[in-house]
Parts: sequence; structure tokens; C-alpha cells
Amino acid sequence: MLRGHSRAHYFWICAMSQDPSVAPRPLAAVVLAAGKGTRMKSDMHKVLHPIGGRPMILHLFATLEELGADRTVLVVGAGKEQVTEALPHAVVAEQTEQLGTGHAVMMTRELLHDFVGDVLVLYGDVPLIPASVMQAMVDARHLDANTGIVVLGFRPDDPARYGRLVLGADSGLDRIVEYKGASENERAITLCNSGMMLIDGARLFGWLDRLTNQNAAGEYYLTDLVALARSDGARVAVEEADPDHVMGVNSRAELAAAEAAFQRRTRKTMLDAGVSMTAPETVFFSHDTKIGADTHIEPHVVFGPGVHIAGGATIKAFSHLEGASIGADASVGPYARLRPGAKIGASAKIGNFVEVKNADISTGAKVSHLSYIGDAFVGTEANIGAGTITCNYDGFLKHKTHIGSGAFVGSNTALVAPVEVGDGAIIGAGSTITTHVAENAVATTRAPQKSREGAAEKLRARGRAAKAAKSRV
Ligand code: UD1
Ligand code: MG
Repeated sequence: MLRGHSRAHYFWICAMSQDPSVAPRPLAAVVLAAGKGTRMKSDMHKVLHPIGGRPMILHLFATLEELGADRTVLVVGAGKEQVTEALPHAVVAEQTEQLGTGHAVMMTRELLHDFVGDVLVLYGDVPLIPASVMQAMVDARHLDANTGIVVLGFRPDDPARYGRLVLGADSGLDRIVEYKGASENERAITLCNSGMMLIDGARLFGWLDRLTNQNAAGEYYLTDLVALARSDGARVAVEEADPDHVMGVNSRAELAAAEAAFQRRTRKTMLDAGVSMTAPETVFFSHDTKIGADTHIEPHVVFGPGVHIAGGATIKAFSHLEGASIGADASVGPYARLRPGAKIGASAKIGNFVEVKNADISTGAKVSHLSYIGDAFVGTEANIGAGTITCNYDGFLKHKTHIGSGAFVGSNTALVAPVEVGDGAIIGAGSTITTHVAENAVATTRAPQKSREGAAEKLRARGRAAKAAKSRV
């Protein structure tokens, strides 16, 4: 009923309807991240590996914010310093020994024992679950007052070693069997446990108290809560998720698969929002890429973090953009490199093999070929010729170049910063500009050209003779 809406939105609808019976219950999220993640073979904690340029655990926290969770507890253990550094404001429970998923949730007792509402258990290494799926779990629990737990199931292509969901006669869940302890028949079940669970907070710790570690792994399984709830007469519901939404990251290969899923999802969002792409599968986005409608993206474009594009722009093939903003109807590429602080104005043009860093390129300005523009301001309608370089770095400090509106900078000009070119000034091709060029002035620093009639043939004759002498030796 409420998919696609945040809890905050839901609350607003309820407040409007003035019906207390449908008011949402408080929601606490418990994010498990105490596992070592040894299969990543990394010095970095597993949940900090990036997807779409952002540590995976931050994806999950952003989704919880979107959902409007009232409280979130992060369970840390191995590598906890790294995790808490990435999430300095998180409420943390520590699990010093990793004795199982059930044991990990027990560690939140002090923080949540008085919590009245639903407790949503999530895994830090399952980062792409959308808010709408979490909300669907909440909704499923409230369909029937007797539902004590909602388990998020899925049907992976390869059920591998996932826990299997054993359904009961009432289409609810009877129990979860872990792969290690499952019979042949149970292993044949294709409906698997994603690990995500929504549990009635009032009964959670009572059930946790009854868990034992008498199983194949010698661990306290959170999954055993299902059978305990059933034995208490509570119903356990199953929500089924899209496998892409619940994929876990345990290895580099799974990290790459999660990145691919994230990219697929983001491409679809962009296409739905009116961004066109010739070959979407070749375009890579960051978690925070923002693009206005009617922008066209050609093949093989990569967005690093912090790119914002207004509508109607064209990003041509093989461009790499990060930390850049691009105005309406601007054209960038092919083969352009926009680095942090590049601000490309409306209808401006950045052409092939142009690198822009920390520079404002104003409305209608053109930098069409083979240039480096760094730490600079380029005024409206200015034209920067091929091969122009702003020499911004003296080996110690960076300096600014200012180019006025309507200025024309000839090809292969070196602008040695700090330097200023006035509005409407013209710089002759091949100049090295080291001092201020006044408004509407013409500046050239080329050495005078010398030409000798017929000298080319004499020069060639001398060369031929030298080569012949050498081959005789
Ligand atoms: C778990 C489920 C299994 C499910 C699978 C989905 C249990 C008993 N089994 O198995 O049914 O199909 O996830 O991926 O729950 N963690 C802790 N502390 C611990 C143990 C784990 O914080 O003591 C965290 C891990 O960091 C990880 C998550 O809990 O984020 C899952 O742990 P993992 O060991 O991967 O569980 P699985 O054996 O895969
Ligand atoms: Mg696992």
C-alpha cells in the first residue's frame, strides 16, 4: 500500500487521516557488521568497500534515513575502528566475539531492551536493499496482528549455501534451515533466506534468550527465532525480494556483481528521469550523480563523485567527469576530462582532449581542443584555441588565470599564472603570456619569423651528402 513512500510520508498520511489504528509503529534498525570479511582479502573492512563510489555501509544508512527509521544500532566487532570512523555519529553495540547472527543481535539489548516497535535486522554487507522493500516488510507485519516476524526471502539463480525457507501449511514460514544442517530435501528448496528480518521488538529479546548454539556451526543463529516464534503461536510472514536487492558482498567477485547491480539500477533511474544514453551499459554513475532531463550521454562515459548536470547537455563518448557541474545545453567531450571544481556554464563547449580543473568556464565559452584549463576563470563567449595551457603551478604554489568575456586566445598559448587577460583581448597563437593583457588589447610574444628563399633544397642536398658519406664508411 505504501511502497515508494517514506515512513515520514506515511506518518503524514496517517496524521491527515486522524486514524490512530494505522499510525506506524516506531522502527529500529540493527545493522550487523561485526564479521571479519576474510574472503575480501583486504586491509579495509568489508563494509567500507565502495559501490558507486561510496562505502557500502553508507548506502544502507542513507536508505534507512530515506525510510525514516527512528533508531539505528550498528553492531561492530572485527575492525570496529575503521567502521566507526566512517560512521562517527552511529549508535554502536560491540560484539567482541563473533558467535553468530543471533548473538550479534543480543549485543543490542542494552540499547533496545525498552524499545517498543519493530526491529529490522540488516547486514552491513547487503547494502542495496531499497527503502520500498524495507517498508513492504513493515507493512507485511501489520497485515496480521499475530505476525511476530517477517523474513525477507529471495530466489537466487544459485541457492548455494544460503539458509532455506521451509514454508508451513498457512503459507507462512515454519522454520529456516541453515545449509550446513539441511537435509537433501531441504537443500532442494529454492526460496532462500536473505538474512533480513523484521521482528516484534517486544518479543525479540525473550526469543533471543532461548537461542542455543547446538548446531553444525556451533553458533547462535538468528534464523532459529522463526521456529521459536512458531512454537509460541506467532505467525511468521515471508516477503520475497528481487535477488539484485539482497545480494551480499563477501568477495571481490561479489563486490563487482553488486557494483554491476547498482549501475543497472542507476541507469534505469536515469533513463526513467529523461536522460538518454546511446549505450547505457557502457555508462558508469556515482551514487550522487545528478542529471537533468534531455541530457544525452554517448557511450563510455564515467562519472566519479560529485557531478551535477543541468538539462539538455550532451556528454560525448569517452569522457571522465568528477566533482564537476555542467550548465544547460553545454557540450562536453568526446574524450574530455572534468576534474573537481570544473564549472561549465550553460551552452559552453569543452571539446576533445580538454582537461578542466577548478575552473569556471562561463556561458557560451569554448575550449574546443587539446587544452589544460586549471585554477582559472574564463568569461562568457571567450574562445580558447587548441593547445592552450594555463600554467597554474610553479612547483610550489597554484596560481589563477583570469580570461575576460569575449577574449580570443590563439592556439598553443601558454598562460603563465598568475595572469589576467582582459575582456575582448586577442592573444596571438603560440604566445607565452606572463603579464596582464589589457581589455581589447592584442598581445603576441612570438619570435619574429625568418624565411630564406630556396634554402630548403640546399639543406636537403647537404643532408643527402652527409648520409652518402656515412654509408661509404
Ligand atoms: C546468514 C543466514 C543465512 C542466510 C545468509 C544470507 C544465519 C544463521 N544465517 O548466513 O540463513 O541465507 O546469512 O547471506 O543468520 N555477523 C555478525 N556477527 C556474527 C556473525 C555474523 O555481525 O557473529 C554479521 C556479518 O558481518 C554479516 C552478517 O552478520 O554481515 C551475516 O553473517 P554471515 O556469517 O555471512 O552469515 P551466513 O552464514 O552467510
Ligand atoms: Mg554470508
